[in-house]
Amino acid sequence: MYKIVAKRILNDQVASLTLEAPFVARKVQPGQFVIVRTDEFGERIPLTVADFDREAGTLTIIFQTVGFTTKKLAAMNVGDAIADCVGPLGCPTEFGNPKKAIVVGGGVGCAIAYPQAKALHNMGVETDVIAGFRNKEIVILEEEMRAVATRFHITTDDGSYGEKGFVTEVLKRLLEQDRYDLVIAIGPIPMMKFVSKTTEPFGVKTLVSLNPIMIDGTGMCGGCRVTVGGETKFACVDGPDFDGHLVDYDELMRRNAFYKEEENHACRLEANIHG
Ligand code: NAD
Ligand code: FES
Repeated sequence: MYKIVAKRILNDQVASLTLEAPFVARKVQPGQFVIVRTDEFGERIPLTVADFDREAGTLTIIFQTVGFTTKKLAAMNVGDAIADCVGPLGCPTEFGNPKKAIVVGGGVGCAIAYPQAKALHNMGVETDVIAGFRNKEIVILEEEMRAVATRFHITTDDGSYGEKGFVTEVLKRLLEQDRYDLVIAIGPIPMMKFVSKTTEPFGVKTLVSLNPIMIDGTGMCGGCRVTVGGETKFACVDGPDFDGHLVDYDELMRRNAFYKEEENHACRLEANIHG
């Protein structure tokens, strides 16, 4: 069992849990993920590790309460324990040796953009962070991202905070003004697609972290199949980071929508059971 030692509600749809998981915390690297199960009958869900503390033996996961299992997870509290936390899984991010980088986080994707920015900051890389949200009410991790960014830019779609517009507008402006060696983008699939389209003409290496449906997380089931540069890859073992210029985003969007009806059905059943 993996005890919950801290819980934070980041906005009304996003929560953060810190788990006692010493064996995972000892080895995990930025970019890797764990698969968690709330209980022995629970669904397995992959979540990228948002932070870790090797000495305390803890790791933090941040998730949006979008479906049956994430709602169950969000209802758990400090002192409760989850049944499984398997990992670290996937490949650590290969940052290379950049001098100047931009990390782009979209909405809840900032939970994963933050550790990437922190890792670059700790490597001494000059790092611009661009964080985009629909509106001011759902901004998360601003303080944490500001602390590791050389320059921090925040956008909202409706202009209620920071600059009005999408992250890609700030990104284009920065790329026109200066030379960067690396862009990392994590967020909704359309955002990663358009970040990659924006960086392509500038020839800047662009990494995206993909979140396809996963089952075993060890390359056995094929559930997380993605097409990258015309080749089939499994995000759980070949990724989750890939060259953003080569990903077939439209296929990924179609595959991620496969189980929408089943997910809605599970949520309706749960709502009926609990009133
Ligand atoms: P959202 O839809 O509110 O978008 C966040 C920001 O992304 C926007 O404010 C905007 O700046 C940018 N964006 C969105 N669409 C864009 C487009 N077409 N062009 C340019 N920029 C665009 O985000 P949300 O609802 O908080 O995010 C949830 C999504 O993020 C879910 O689909 C979730 O699966 C995904 N997610 C992905 C990962 C990952 O590993 N890739 C991790 C966590 C969450
Ligand atoms: Fe099964 Fe990747 S999750 S192959």
